[in-house]
Amino acid sequence: MSPMIEVRGLSVVFDGFRAIDGIDLTVEKGELRFLIGPNGAGKTTLIDVITGLTRPTTGEVVFDGRSLAGLREHRIVRLGVGRTFQTSVVFEELSVLENLDLAASFRRPLWSLTRRRRGISDAVAEALETTGLKELADRPAGVLSHGQRQWLEIGMLLTQSPKLLLLDEPVAGMSKDERERTGELLTSVANDHTVIVIEHDMEFLRRYASQVTVLHEGKVLIEGSVDQVRDDPRVQEVYLGRKRSDAVGTGT
Ligand SMILES: Nc1ncnc2c1ncn2[C@@H]1O[C@H](COP(=O)(O)OP(=O)(O)OP(=O)(O)O)[C@@H](O)[C@H]1O
Ligand SMILES: [Mg+2]
Repeated sequence: MSPMIEVRGLSVVFDGFRAIDGIDLTVEKGELRFLIGPNGAGKTTLIDVITGLTRPTTGEVVFDGRSLAGLREHRIVRLGVGRTFQTSVVFEELSVLENLDLAASFRRPLWSLTRRRRGISDAVAEALETTGLKELADRPAGVLSHGQRQWLEIGMLLTQSPKLLLLDEPVAGMSKDERERTGELLTSVANDHTVIVIEHDMEFLRRYASQVTVLHEGKVLIEGSVDQVRDDPRVQEVYLGRKRSDAVGTGT
């Protein structure tokens, strides 16, 4: 195995505040890695750095053997890194199919966009299949449930054939049923992609996670199996009395 992503000596300082404080992290190709940690631990910032949204103060990220230093966001997308955000970014007036089609077009050469295309591309058909949204293809995204929107966003990423998917709290605010379907979706996506998921819910982790990295105050607190992490006194301490409220829909 060779690493899909290597984060080396990373720190991010915002106006003197160390949001990330010396992180080293390696995720191998084909892994489904869970990233947990209390509010403000630096989880989203780490993803922001990997995707080029935030510049590191020190350190670097190597993706599939190539340094991402200095690369702009769209270049990183084109290299094969896809992400979702804590808040949803689908176009509500467009149908599920149109959202997928639009997402797929981001990696197509510009000239092909001016051509009229008939039918749906393989990538879009596959994304509809994988996410289970086939039946809803013609519905406007605005009418989807919270869970269905998240699946649509994951589907939108899949149309761009990423090597690495970064998902920021995809199950926050979901019903039990939706969580289960999301767990299955992640498991199936992880069969042929590398996936990093930010999630807090221990029950969810127990069911779907193998390797877990815990961040706290911008550092890696511990890395290991779900059981190792859950039983670690340091993890219990940082979560104690800080139980997240997981407000519906906000994911914050
Ligand atoms: N652009 C910014 N400017 C200043 N401070 C920031 C910025 N982005 C994040 N921070 C701070 O950096 C710290 C880490 O934030 P981050 O969003 O990465 O945490 P998180 O682990 O994703 O938390 P949550 O579970 O609440 O989503 C927080 O204290 C946050 O307030
Ligand atoms: Mg966050």
